[in-house]
Amino acid sequence: MLIDGSGALVVGGASGLGEAAARALHARGAHVVVADLDAERGAALAARLGERAQFAAADVTRPEQLEQAVALAAAQVPGGLRISVHCAGIGHAERIARPKGPHRAETFERVVAVNLVGTFHALRLASAAMLANEPSDGGERGVVVNTASIAAYDGQIGQVAYAASKGGVVALTLPAARDLAGAGIRVCAIAPGLFDTPLLAALPAEARQQLGASIPFPPRLGLPSEFAQLACQIVENEMLNGEVIRLDGALRMAPR
Ligand SMILES: NC(=O)c1ccc[n+]([C@@H]2O[C@H](COP(=O)([O-])OP(=O)(O)OC[C@H]3O[C@@H](n4cnc5c(N)ncnc54)[C@H](O)[C@@H]3O)[C@@H](O)[C@H]2O)c1
Repeated sequence: MLIDGSGALVVGGASGLGEAAARALHARGAHVVVADLDAERGAALAARLGERAQFAAADVTRPEQLEQAVALAAAQVPGGLRISVHCAGIGHAERIARPKGPHRAETFERVVAVNLVGTFHALRLASAAMLANEPSDGGERGVVVNTASIAAYDGQIGQVAYAASKGGVVALTLPAARDLAGAGIRVCAIAPGLFDTPLLAALPAEARQQLGASIPFPPRLGLPSEFAQLACQIVENEMLNGEVIRLDGALRMAPR
């Protein structure tokens, strides 16, 4: 998929990995709608990007809000919505059971609602809009990039909810790609390891450095721009489909 001139949507695009993806797509000539819960950061980013960028306030657990963001993204250019990158997500730490009681059901449900069901809503709504696109010469109508996590494979202590939500994102990638293959719409996911985003910025510098040093090579936290680089490659490389790509410097997480 050609990025230059295409209509793009970046859900969770106000911060971290999503912000980097929005910046990279915009720098390569895409028309970008940044959709996010955080209206202040999202609107500021769209304003900084300037021309070819807009903000849409959207909570991924509210499909009607996502529907509006998708409509805005599809209306940017006559070619319609061709690129959808999904980065909205939250973390949560809680053990499955402790002497004081079992894992709360509502925290598990909340993480799955945002990370997994939110991804499902964005995927179904964006791909439905892509079905209306004229196919490219190669028959392509669109591409979707979701964000999983290596916690889907190596979930640590306290990550039952987070790992389950990201495992769901991994598992839906192939069937969604198969569902949409006839229409020329690709679906991939990136499973990041440890990246230097506001999610980790809350940790003290020493803890962040230790986390980075635990990565085989390169022994540092990943840069959001490296995530964005892969997202753009997935968009551009037509053979990438139905695949979840680990982006983790060979990190395999220990139990804690
Ligand atoms: N940073 C890492 O090391 C890392 C590793 C693996 C996976 N991930 C995943 O990458 C994605 C992005 O993480 P990040 O590190 O950039 O975090 P971040 O907190 O910087 O960005 C997440 C964005 O999602 C938005 N968001 C949260 N809940 C939302 C909702 N209900 N509706 C709409 N937007 C919502 C936030 O406002 C924020 O802008 C997440 O899915 C995260 O699980 C991150």
